[in-house]
Amino acid sequence: MKNILVIGSGGREHALAWKLIQSTHTEKVYVAPGNAGTALEDGIENVAISSDDIAALITFAKDKKIDLTIVGPEALLVAGIVDQFTAQGLTIFGPKQFNAQLEGSKSFAKEFMQSCNIPTASYQEFTDVTLATNYLAEQSFPIVIKADGLAAGKGVVIAQNKQEAIDAVISMLTDGAHGQAGKKIVIEEFIHGEEVSFICLVDHATVIPLASSQDHKARDNGDLGPNTGGMGAYSPAPLVTDALHARIISGVIQPTVQGFIDAGHPYQGFLYAGLMITAEGEPKVLEFNCRFGDPETQPILMRLQSDLSLLCWDAARNQLEQQTLSWNSQTALGVVMAAGGYPFNYAKGETISGIDDISASHTKVFHAGTTLNNDVISTSGGRVLCVTSLGKDIKTAQQNAYLGVNAISWKDVYYRDDIGFKAIK
Ligand code: AMP
Ligand code: GLY
Repeated sequence: MKNILVIGSGGREHALAWKLIQSTHTEKVYVAPGNAGTALEDGIENVAISSDDIAALITFAKDKKIDLTIVGPEALLVAGIVDQFTAQGLTIFGPKQFNAQLEGSKSFAKEFMQSCNIPTASYQEFTDVTLATNYLAEQSFPIVIKADGLAAGKGVVIAQNKQEAIDAVISMLTDGAHGQAGKKIVIEEFIHGEEVSFICLVDHATVIPLASSQDHKARDNGDLGPNTGGMGAYSPAPLVTDALHARIISGVIQPTVQGFIDAGHPYQGFLYAGLMITAEGEPKVLEFNCRFGDPETQPILMRLQSDLSLLCWDAARNQLEQQTLSWNSQTALGVVMAAGGYPFNYAKGETISGIDDISASHTKVFHAGTTLNNDVISTSGGRVLCVTSLGKDIKTAQQNAYLGVNAISWKDVYYRDDIGFKAIK
């Protein structure tokens, strides 16, 4: 796989491309459309194709003799990009449309989990507002309301009482808050515990777990405020002991992989289980994603020493062999620097300064919503950068990352200053 195409423009895709080009087997990584960070890396080139233009991506992959394509964002996977590339004889790593329903439809995921005995919150699904409201009359709170389809991380409401729950149901089913994605909803039991992200490379029956990680989804310090795509993450997650790791594999990952084999649609791609670890130490699935996490990718790949190109290449051709990956034993921690106002309205086009002043080899600034124009880097999205550092322990990794964060500025920059706090206390 001399030539690799990565699709997407976030911090996850910058980290993937950065890791892939480190492979001795890889000469060039194209990123469509990429960001300022990928534009500035040696061996990486941005391609001006929108990441939802599958036909143009196929033409590009053929023209440039791309050996392997890797997809970042879920929407394309749910839309069937893997089926379409494969039908054209192109090698691509990611789940097919059938498998991507695991992320694309909460009701598919819940039914799948039920049929495979995978522990998850009890639930009911609704399309009718009266039936949903009647159901809520008999429930206890908090309760969780989820839009069935993709809603860019905004389709989940944790309702503290009946009125909030009814409001959420009405906004989705009646007012069309998430368009088609919210025309069906899942109402599920609220699970208490601590969240962990567990991501694996899957090729049919072969499962290679990546290092554990933990994300901070809430916008503000102390895990407060609105839900976001993720404000920072670290790896490993100390919560995931060897015993819990084994339990996640046997109770969640293996049944998922087997369930798809039994359905006649073996899974291939990154498989991400978002888990709540209960007080009793039981992992329960909150959601599945059919891709790598963002920002989990950034700290995880900072620690990966194995050849990612080779792994994805083998997996995409159904030749992945069981193996243990090698990891830097240090902790990696990434802090997301966002545009003030995110996840709601925010400004774009602010000039970013200070990135060049960061020279520490243990720190890498991964870009997300950035663009490069005449050597000037400016903001172009809600999550702008993820400053990621290694350290001998989580405290040191945190200190290193915030040294980087403090060197960077733009107008109305926003970030949490407690990423990793749960693992430190
Ligand atoms: P999801 O997009 O399904 O991961 O949901 C977004 C966030 O909502 C998760 O990261 C959790 O913090 C929270 N969440 C989702 N489902 C539940 C649940 N059943 N119980 C408690 N919290 C949940
Ligand atoms: N960081 C959570 C996600 O990628 O969905």
